Amino acid sequence: MISTAQTSHLDSIGSFLAMEIFSRAQQLEAQGKEIIHLEFGEPDFPPPPEAADAVRKSFENSPAGYTHTQGIEQLRIEIAKKYSDDYGVRITPEQVLVSNGSSLLLFLSVRLLAPPGSEVILTDPSFACYENTIRVAGAEPVLLKLHREEGFQLNVEELRKKVTLISDEIYADLSYEDPPCSFLSYSQNTVAIHGFSKYYAMTGWRLGYMITPMAWMSAAARLHQNLMISANEFVQQAGISVLQKSKSYCESMKTEFNRRRKHVLNRLTELGMDPGYTPKGAFYVLYKYRDSSKTSLDLCMEVLEKTGVAIAPGRDFGLGAEGYVRLSYSNSLENIDRALIKLAESKLL
Ligand SMILES: Cc1ncc(COP(=O)(O)O)c(C=O)c1O
Repeated sequence: MISTAQTSHLDSIGSFLAMEIFSRAQQLEAQGKEIIHLEFGEPDFPPPPEAADAVRKSFENSPAGYTHTQGIEQLRIEIAKKYSDDYGVRITPEQVLVSNGSSLLLFLSVRLLAPPGSEVILTDPSFACYENTIRVAGAEPVLLKLHREEGFQLNVEELRKKVTLISDEIYADLSYEDPPCSFLSYSQNTVAIHGFSKYYAMTGWRLGYMITPMAWMSAAARLHQNLMISANEFVQQAGISVLQKSKSYCESMKTEFNRRRKHVLNRLTELGMDPGYTPKGAFYVLYKYRDSSKTSLDLCMEVLEKTGVAIAPGRDFGLGAEGYVRLSYSNSLENIDRALIKLAESKLL
């Protein structure tokens, strides 16, 4: 019996630094300061209208209950159809597991594939939570460095040689210069993770899914039963509706994000702040700042206090991104413009 709570086994788990910037920005807003938010990757558009319609209909027709742990069959059929239509990849609905957001599935997939003590290859920079998720699962992150000169792109040939890899495809549809694709078209020996937060603008709905080879699904489903039972039924109904009806709505959001991407890159160059590479997907620009004696967290706090612009510290995305800040363009063009001018005038970057 442990008499006092022991949490030291979690000491190596870092916090999500963009959340710290966000908390401070909220304090400043509560004091009446205007803040322009460029720290998160959260679409500023409402979700497709079909999503809310489907939720209303779902409540009229049935009390929300548990579903199959892998998710409602119709949703899994629609997901398989999406992978075939959008990425040219054939999967079966039995290979799909739906959950409340892709974040839990990132943890679940590491737990599935990497026994405690094993090594997991991770790009650096990468999404803030990967490294911590790997550590929580008892595995060791091994960093694969990405370079600004190569646009922070992954060298797929190098990775082809590796046996398995977990592929987070949450931004696959927000690819502006190349057709969207899935890692499953390179290797079937892959756990692909996707979700509704970004392309579908449904962050708070908490809906994501994973696709695994059949050989791994039984273990994945058992883990999911024990951790989550099932994703919310009515949110899954919204997912079905959105996959069936909202393609053109989502494509128009994507067109707007692309317009902003080009605008941000042009404006940064005009303001003497060329980022030195062309981001081709999602809604972020990593920007290398001049004063390397400052940590990216300290710099972002200073920028927030002095300019009212909230941006994310590069350190959030791995050691390879320390020395950088991340600007998200999931905000209106008008706000983005005002923010960029404030950043340029401050000369802090
Ligand atoms: C690369 C990446 N993967 C996963 C997530 C989490 O997505 P979800 O909202 O489905 O949990 C995010 C959220 O910012 C992300 O940027």
